[in-house]
Amino acid sequence: MKKKLTISSLVLIVAAFACQKEIVNQVFFFKSPSYFPKPTYHFETNNITDAGFALGKKLFYDPLLSIDNSTSCGSCHTSTSAFTHNDHDLSHGLNGALTKRNSPPLMNLAWSSSFMWDGGIADLDLQPIAPITSQIEMGETMEHVVSKINKNPNYKPLIFKAFGTNTITGETLLKALSQFMLMCTSTEAKYDSVKRGQAKYTQVEQEGYNIFLAKCNACHNEPLFTDNSFRNTGLKTSILNDSGRYLITLDKRDLFSFKVPSLRNISYTPPYMHDGRFFSLADAIEHYNSQVVNMQTLDPLLKKEGSLGIRLSKDEKTKLIVFLKTLDDRVFVMNRKLGE
Ligand code: HEC
Ligand code: HEC
Repeated sequence: MKKKLTISSLVLIVAAFACQKEIVNQVFFFKSPSYFPKPTYHFETNNITDAGFALGKKLFYDPLLSIDNSTSCGSCHTSTSAFTHNDHDLSHGLNGALTKRNSPPLMNLAWSSSFMWDGGIADLDLQPIAPITSQIEMGETMEHVVSKINKNPNYKPLIFKAFGTNTITGETLLKALSQFMLMCTSTEAKYDSVKRGQAKYTQVEQEGYNIFLAKCNACHNEPLFTDNSFRNTGLKTSILNDSGRYLITLDKRDLFSFKVPSLRNISYTPPYMHDGRFFSLADAIEHYNSQVVNMQTLDPLLKKEGSLGIRLSKDEKTKLIVFLKTLDDRVFVMNRKLGE
């Protein structure tokens, strides 16, 4: 009996291992599916290697990057929720201080032309400086983080393998973080299987897709489900009074415009919108149907022929949600190679 148990548990372990290995092989190499546009990231100055990725991953999950060793990048970007801060509208960083905005998912960043809800950062390699030096998020200086890492013996072999040097610099630290984040690709949703001819939509999913193409795709452009533009969707202004893209361009036409977020992995990323005001997908969709507020900079697509928003019947809303769930990528959110 004892022996039998051992053998069967061994089989289980081997099976689990095989399964894990399959997932790893599937997504570990950076790949751009044939139906995706060309990535915008400059790989020629920062080529992804196994060692660079491993170093980047350790840095991403290391609270050493914050002043009081309390907060890592992973504190606000959890892999199992597509790297958003799950269940938080605004995120808390140091001493519970709140961020101004909702932590966005980190995925398919190699195809993004700008970062943050207002697009204030143009290069992924420069993005981590913002959270590391923010008094609300990690409260550090780059110099001090670099010196803490160089004093930590655990990092030595990793740095050497990745960059062939004994010490890390601000530049190599940022490059390693980029290598980890670039590997956070989401390309294994049902939508992707259908694109590759490996699966078929159900009737309802197909109807939802057709509604999506007609009413949403102009901004949430497939296959990334964002066109990387900034738009004002007529959300009622809140007490945060965040003027969005305007803060970067100081162009009045950009008042209250925010980056069009990807809708991939939408089931894993509530709450929704730049300030996390909607806790359910149904509420986020209802916004377009009945809550769009008219203002000068409202996107023209949302005030066509004098009518505000995008009319959706009850049936259409249901089918849209069914389609949007085909954008959930379990392989991505469960990938142990990316998780802490
Ligand atoms: C306290 C929570 C918090 C911490 C810690 C944090 N982030 Fe973020 N992150 C956010 C929020 C909130 C935003 C959105 C900010 C905005 O739009 O103004 C964001 C945005 C981003 C973006 C832009 C994504 C996009 O698609 O535009 C990247 C990349 C990112 N964070 C990576 C990191 C890295 C790397 C670290 C660690 C060095 C980190 N974050 C630490 C909360 C956090
Ligand atoms: C005019 C461009 C535009 C159109 C059309 C549009 N959206 Fe959006 N969508 C946006 C922008 C911009 C945001 C972010 C708004 C913000 O936070 O201020 C957004 C946010 C969302 C979110 C929240 C995502 C998140 O991660 O927070 C969902 C869900 C969504 N849209 C679904 C839809 C659906 C479904 C349709 C079609 C019925 C649609 N959108 C049509 C531009 C658009």
